[in-house]
Amino acid sequence: MDKPGPEDKKTKILLDPSFHHERKLHFVSNTPVFQLRSEAELCFIGKNASVDDHVLLGYPTGRKIRDRQLVIGGNAEIRSGSVIYEGTTIGSHLTTGHNVVIREENVIGDHFTIWSNSVVDYGCEIGHGVKIHSNCYIAQFTTIEDHVFLAPGVTIANDLHPGCEHSQKCMRGPTIKKGAQIGVNVTLLPFITIGERALVGSGAVVTKDIPPCSVVTGNPAKVICTIDELQCSTGLTDYPYRKGA
Ligand SMILES: CC(C)(COP(=O)(O)OP(=O)(O)OC[C@H]1O[C@@H](n2cnc3c(N)ncnc32)[C@H](O)[C@@H]1OP(=O)(O)O)[C@@H](O)C(=O)NCCC(=O)NCCS
Repeated sequence: MDKPGPEDKKTKILLDPSFHHERKLHFVSNTPVFQLRSEAELCFIGKNASVDDHVLLGYPTGRKIRDRQLVIGGNAEIRSGSVIYEGTTIGSHLTTGHNVVIREENVIGDHFTIWSNSVVDYGCEIGHGVKIHSNCYIAQFTTIEDHVFLAPGVTIANDLHPGCEHSQKCMRGPTIKKGAQIGVNVTLLPFITIGERALVGSGAVVTKDIPPCSVVTGNPAKVICTIDELQCSTGLTDYPYRKGA
């Protein structure tokens, strides 16, 4: 394909000599590789990035934010249809599926994987090694610690009384502690904390704090056992969460 010319505003970031050495973009086709929607110098992407067509990086927010810089670490793989807003920082080895939206003012660690049609709303903190499957919604001001897994269809709320005139001030998503596993189609309500390595069963609606290493199911979710008590029915192991079992 033709190399982008210096006059090409959309690819100015590639040509900025001070960042050029940081960057080796992988071109996936002859059509425009990706579009930078805000000022080019506000978007930085590390080396070995693979960015599909129809990706928007540095998309401008309608909100007033302090820092408009978008920073994405090296070895990112960003698939078509994804939109990452300005004012967000993401570590290395980001992987997105298709049609992922990551809004502004998010701070996200290394090895973040987020599959198709999932949305991270603004102001979230997400640790290292977090995996978010398809069709998930992460509400504003949610905290997700390292190595958490969210199965398809997880929905997170941050506004307990929507429509209340004080909503904007009290809005806060849940905190999901290290290594917790959230099953398919789970709903997490605002303010709650999911303890470390807890397992939330499929379809649960979590309305209260969940203790570490517990297994919860139902609506409203209740503790049914600890993860160490769960038994494997496939014969591959006796206890799926006991070390060396
Ligand atoms: C909660 C869970 C861990 C329980 O594991 P399990 O090995 O099936 O445990 P058990 O068979 O001992 O089930 C215990 C009881 O909880 C019930 N139960 C299991 N999962 C349930 C769920 N999601 N909601 C409501 N009840 C559930 C079982 O019917 C059983 O009830 P019983 O004692 O009256 O027969 C599991 O069912 C689950 O939901 N895993 C998450 C699956 C998932 O979303 N994976 C995401 C990857 S795509």
